[in-house]
Amino acid sequence: MERSTTTPEEPLIPVVPAYVTCGALTFLWHLLIAFLHLVGLGGSDPRNWSVKRPRNVVLSQSCRCIFALIWKNWLKPDDVVLISPFHHHSFIRMMRSTGNKLVVMDMDGQKLLPPKGYQAKDFAAVVVTQMLGRDYDAAWLKAWRAENKDLLIIEDRVQGDLISKEDETFADISLYSLGQDKIPNALGGGYGVVHNNPRLYDFLVREIEKLPFESAWERFSFILKKLPTLLIYNSRFGCFLVERLLRLFGYGRTAAVDNYRKQNPGFMHGGYFIRPSPALIRSIDIMGDLSRWEVMQERCNVQYSKFLDQIPKRHLDNVRVCGSDNSCCYFFVKLPDLDESRQLLANRGIMTINNQTFLPAEDKVAYHLDNMCTLPTFLTLTDEELDAIAHAMTECWDRFGHKVANPKA
Ligand SMILES: Cc1ncc(COP(=O)(O)O)c(C=O)c1O
Repeated sequence: MERSTTTPEEPLIPVVPAYVTCGALTFLWHLLIAFLHLVGLGGSDPRNWSVKRPRNVVLSQSCRCIFALIWKNWLKPDDVVLISPFHHHSFIRMMRSTGNKLVVMDMDGQKLLPPKGYQAKDFAAVVVTQMLGRDYDAAWLKAWRAENKDLLIIEDRVQGDLISKEDETFADISLYSLGQDKIPNALGGGYGVVHNNPRLYDFLVREIEKLPFESAWERFSFILKKLPTLLIYNSRFGCFLVERLLRLFGYGRTAAVDNYRKQNPGFMHGGYFIRPSPALIRSIDIMGDLSRWEVMQERCNVQYSKFLDQIPKRHLDNVRVCGSDNSCCYFFVKLPDLDESRQLLANRGIMTINNQTFLPAEDKVAYHLDNMCTLPTFLTLTDEELDAIAHAMTECWDRFGHKVANPKA
């Protein structure tokens, strides 16, 4: 549909802006587990499948299920909640749905600042969403916690710093998602690590175990339907082929990615009040030692800094989101605009998707996420491809930077 009007198209870098981080072999392993459960060879009685794990870990069918259980059952309608400036869209929607007063923290780079005119005792809960592969610095929250022993702190660490850097004195619960392009990854599911709050832990285990099980068929069909996604996301040939096919049907590169991602968001939009199926629990248990995932998470940072090294200094602050030098496995950057810049990148063979993850908690901070998009997965790019992407990003800012009210160059 869209056609380049300015520059001829260069060959495609056949890597999409998402990646099934568990890889093809483990994918097949999860599929086999789900199949065995479907045909009744999955082992013990489902009633024995507890969501309790060592270190006060509670398993769930998704990370938002844990968040929703806390939000809907733990808080009272008139409780005031202090929140960080950006959250996953599902969390923002949930927080707005109950009418609780939300106060947004101020931010200075990587630092979260206490809201002016409030004290610890004014809040019942705090929700901090870590992002861009790093954790915020919010040391003052520890003092607030000591002042107000009832203050419940929830941390969304799905896209935070290395798993091993979780600070157990920071929050009552740290949440993780195990979805298709997350680190770690069990092709679905999520978990929470509860810190020094046995009442919260018992509550979550009790509530999750009261939910109806995800059925063996739901689990199996969920993974089976992801097979095409795996072929496109993790195989250059699959990606190349599908792009060719879609273009035969008249879709340009950006429209092709947008449409595919819209149809296959990698998570479910609703119906998440369910208990993980025995097959999913088994898949979570075989994820094994978290150090394997740490290596992948470190690689995201290494690749991201290689990319930033190729961006001229004058555009560094334009390209990085909130000044972050780190990245989770979504490689977010900022463009001067979405239409022309994404088209220019597409002409250079680079596929992008608009930010579909984060929403600002208030208009004042929304500009930080303006024209934010995800670049092809750096985890599988060669150094030459990384350089080519950095050069195309630079070209976008050189050519279209004037559209931004306050470019940083
Ligand atoms: C930052 C963040 N928080 C929360 C979630 C929700 O995770 P789940 O799909 O397991 O509910 C996601 C998933 O994309 C996320 O990226």
